Amino acid sequence: MKILAIESSCDETACAIVEDGVNVLSNIVATQIAEHRLYGGVVPEIASRMHAECIYQVTQEALTAANCALSDIDAIAVTYAPGLIGALLVGISFAKGLAMSSGKPLIPVHHIAGHIAANYISHPELEPPYLCLVVSGGHSHIVEVLDRTRYRVVGRTHDDAAGECFDKVARTLGYEYPGGKYIDSAAKIGDPKAYNFPHPRVDGCEYDFSFSGLKTAVINLVHNASQKGETLVREDVAASFQRTVCEIVVGKTMAAAEALGYKTIGLAGGVSANSGVRGALQKACDKRGFKLYMPELKYCGDNAAMIGCQGYYDYLAGKRADSSLNGIATLSLEKISE
Ligand code: KG4
Ligand code: ZN
Repeated sequence: MKILAIESSCDETACAIVEDGVNVLSNIVATQIAEHRLYGGVVPEIASRMHAECIYQVTQEALTAANCALSDIDAIAVTYAPGLIGALLVGISFAKGLAMSSGKPLIPVHHIAGHIAANYISHPELEPPYLCLVVSGGHSHIVEVLDRTRYRVVGRTHDDAAGECFDKVARTLGYEYPGGKYIDSAAKIGDPKAYNFPHPRVDGCEYDFSFSGLKTAVINLVHNASQKGETLVREDVAASFQRTVCEIVVGKTMAAAEALGYKTIGLAGGVSANSGVRGALQKACDKRGFKLYMPELKYCGDNAAMIGCQGYYDYLAGKRADSSLNGIATLSLEKISE
């Protein structure tokens, strides 16, 4: 079964053709990062306009690269939540138009479920149940993946998402938006023990996260140094910050896995591209004899292949949308598991 998938929840306009949830026949991603970089973050209005400008061409390119015509496609999948509402609506309206005019089924896909599904593309043998650490620009969760369409969130951030924290710290250190990947590179040459940043205490669930205190600690360090005219080695700050993030996310994930009895762990979301997080999680899993699954780097950030993969499992589970499909800015994974 061939699915044409569309993703436009944030600042990437993406279309992919995916066969049977695993064969990625094409995967086209048009990024808007250069435009948003001027403003230091995503400007929702600009994102919507740019999606509208390029979604047709991105879809054409995906069909051409897959050597397919629309008539070869069996269903249309689209990200409908969560995300920037105007951005989501561009992809949804386009997908609805394609589905309604061609008479093909329309499958609504949750963006975070898509990130988790990126692992099934790289590792088709991965079978739920397992525990997945989801760290992206907008979300930080520890999720029990019960089956390929049902989830239970056992930990979540109380404030910033991990990627957001990476990007804010990167900006403070003078890197361009989105700075997560620059922190990753800088951390490779910096001293991870140069600074000791706090591990924020979180009230409530022991697997919940908080990143705003860590972010503030780094910002204060940098500002205090600049007020005193001192120069910091930013690679050392980056490496120490990244070490702290790794300790937090890996520590919570291992604690949850041990308490809940999971020996299979997944990693997903844009921050899953981070070499420090990948290495630290691998080490922690190896130490405990856990099996770890991580997406290939090309499927870590936002893309439509992951939506086409998840769309296949949602299709098998009977999920369908009609012309009344709307975008939803905030929607938990648990809501779609009811
Ligand atoms: O999942 P994603 O592409 O978009 C959302 O759904 O939010 O995640 C984007 C986030 C950004 O914050 C970006 O800086 C971060 O992922 N990111 C990284 C790396 N590559 C992307 N953070 C740390 N290290 C990286 N190598
Ligand atoms: Zn994402």
